[in-house]
Amino acid sequence: MRTENTPLPSRRAFAGLLTAGAGLAALTACTPQNGTPSPAGATVPVQADATPSAAASSTAAAPTTEPTATAEPTVATPSPAPSSTLKTQYSLTDPTSPWVVVNKHRPLNPQNFVPADLVQPAIRLAVSGEAALLNSTTAAAAEKMFGAAASEGVIMTLASGYRSYTTQVSTYNGYVASSGQAGADHASARPGHSEHQTGWAFDIGDGGGACSFQPCFAEQPAAVWAKANAHKYGFVVRYPWMFHETTGYFYESWHLRYIGVDAAVDMATRGIATLEEYFGLEAAPDYL
Ligand code: DAL
Ligand code: ZN
Repeated sequence: MRTENTPLPSRRAFAGLLTAGAGLAALTACTPQNGTPSPAGATVPVQADATPSAAASSTAAAPTTEPTATAEPTVATPSPAPSSTLKTQYSLTDPTSPWVVVNKHRPLNPQNFVPADLVQPAIRLAVSGEAALLNSTTAAAAEKMFGAAASEGVIMTLASGYRSYTTQVSTYNGYVASSGQAGADHASARPGHSEHQTGWAFDIGDGGGACSFQPCFAEQPAAVWAKANAHKYGFVVRYPWMFHETTGYFYESWHLRYIGVDAAVDMATRGIATLEEYFGLEAAPDYL
């Protein structure tokens, strides 16, 4: 079975992924950004309702002099991040923090960070060695989540966990070799920019091993279950469908990121899809 640590099987397969991404990009404009579509049959306010007042104002006498600029210029105050309402706040930069945000604009600091508490979770493993490790908090949460999924008849495997800086060098280079740099940058983080290096993220596989790391994984039971339930165990699907302009990556229905139950449930409840939006950070579609 291939893992995210190995290059994609062929240029053709990756071209398919890119095609899927391009198709998804085309659909972005008609997809609700908060992921909570209006219920069928919901009425939408009709713009024409505004016409009478607009007509009334158009009959008012036009000002004959320029308005005097006496007011102070307004300075836009940034609205607080959605995450600011949670009682316990964590660092967004410290890689030992469950809220660390790593993306194309925010490399790990230090770049060669290694979690001090890597452990092998007691879950079904599809990999061995370093890739079977997670930080201790994420490992405990993964054990609970995999157990809950299994109790509902859904088998998940750990398909790729911790990845050192050095491993990410070869992972990323493998993607570049098979897909070119632009293609690689939509699927694999450059070394020092991967959540896998934090120990807070991992990829899941399906019990049957179908569609690993491919777009069709989204329809496998493990991915369907994770999308609906992962937040209850503190996880988010970090690279959701249609949000590559924010996250920098095409949909990865297999990549889960631990941020804690309170934050993950809050995101799900509010329909917020990305960490960038939840923590009030800029979108990171490309490297700076
Ligand atoms: N595939 C994700 C973006 C990573 O390489 O970390
Ligand atoms: Zn991943």
